[in-house]
Amino acid sequence: MKTIQSLRGMNDTLHNVADKFEYIINTATEIAKNYGYTQIETPLLEETALFKRSVGESSDIVGKEMYQFLDKGGNDVCLRPEGTAGVVRSFIQNKFDKRGGNEKFFYHGAMFRYERPQKGRLRLFHQFGCESFGENSVFEDVSVILLIRDIFDALEIGYKLKINSLGCSECMPTYRENLVSYLEEKREELCEDCHRRIETNPIRTLDCKNEKCQTELSDSPKIVQNLCESCDSDFEILKRVLKESGMDFEVDTNLVRGLDYYNKTAFEFVSDEIGSQSAIAGGGRYDKLVEFLGGKDTPAVGFALGIERILDLVKVPEAENSGYYFGTLDSEYLQKLYLLGTQKRGKERVHIELKKRSLNKHLQNADKMGYRFCAILGSDEVANSTIWIKDLKLSSEDTISQDAF
Ligand code: HAM
Repeated sequence: MKTIQSLRGMNDTLHNVADKFEYIINTATEIAKNYGYTQIETPLLEETALFKRSVGESSDIVGKEMYQFLDKGGNDVCLRPEGTAGVVRSFIQNKFDKRGGNEKFFYHGAMFRYERPQKGRLRLFHQFGCESFGENSVFEDVSVILLIRDIFDALEIGYKLKINSLGCSECMPTYRENLVSYLEEKREELCEDCHRRIETNPIRTLDCKNEKCQTELSDSPKIVQNLCESCDSDFEILKRVLKESGMDFEVDTNLVRGLDYYNKTAFEFVSDEIGSQSAIAGGGRYDKLVEFLGGKDTPAVGFALGIERILDLVKVPEAENSGYYFGTLDSEYLQKLYLLGTQKRGKERVHIELKKRSLNKHLQNADKMGYRFCAILGSDEVANSTIWIKDLKLSSEDTISQDAF
């Protein structure tokens, strides 16, 4: 019979990969908590309308990549393609917007995008993200960027930071008009996708992956040269404070992000060690999203990092051997061994080997499995109500009474 495989772009998480996941999440969690964030978990399934309204109908994510279906009640739902929209929905639903609005949340979990799978691009992937609500100061944008820096530094991952400003509702419309006039002049030279983007979301033409478009658009009007006074001043502060904080960056005027909710600061962390899918984290400010989804006007800024993208770059520090491995030389003593081992469970790492083995084999196993103590029951120990224990770290051994043990 043909065996059933996991779906394309969806992987199992096993053994050392699971260890890395845990290490990345624990490291990021500790740092996010130090920055004042508390955990939030939102459902994997949400109303499709949530993502249409936030990520945007013109985005590739909503237009092409959603796992969308009608549930048995006829509701139009989809698996979340990203985490921000659900957190904002929850923020409004739980009335945080009406209660001052200053909240900081971190989350991690599975996201689903029906993309064309390749190295670093999956259909099921995991993000760790943070969303900070209620602070419109650009210093909060710096804090979010430094939080990511602290996470990548703790994980010993190299990166480059790219930043841009996407302006606001005051400066963006004029810029967009200028850009559209420019694009119309170049229309013949641009790809099919860009033709569509001129209509739906012209700034997305700036990060078109088509090389010809890139060359054609190299002298396009730049957003950062068309910012209003407030956006311009914030962008200057952002650059200055990042610099003063020792954070290297590059201004990338074509960085526009693939989600429609951003304004002002937008950024991406990239790695040159993981191939073409080089973005390891991305985010920015989204001051209008809470209001747009029906809440009270609340500024916000956040990011998400892609856990699978950094797996190959992370080395989990070797854990010291710990806990007890229990083994017996004769199956007859298994029950006694089992009960002794069970008493230690819950307090320590414990493995009870249910197959009888030679002493040497048990010692080898205990070491291979990362246990510090190898506790053995043989005929002498059973006769004397003792247990033989070898400390594999200190290479010392001892026979002690079972009661004392
Ligand atoms: P995003 O840039 O779409 O932003 O995703 C963030 C990160 O998730 C990317 O930088 C990448 O590392 C990872 N990622 C995205 N797609 C895939 C994929 N198909 N396979 C593997 N990894 C992937 C967001 O999702 C925003 N919600 C971030 C944000 C939070 N902005 C403000 N707050």
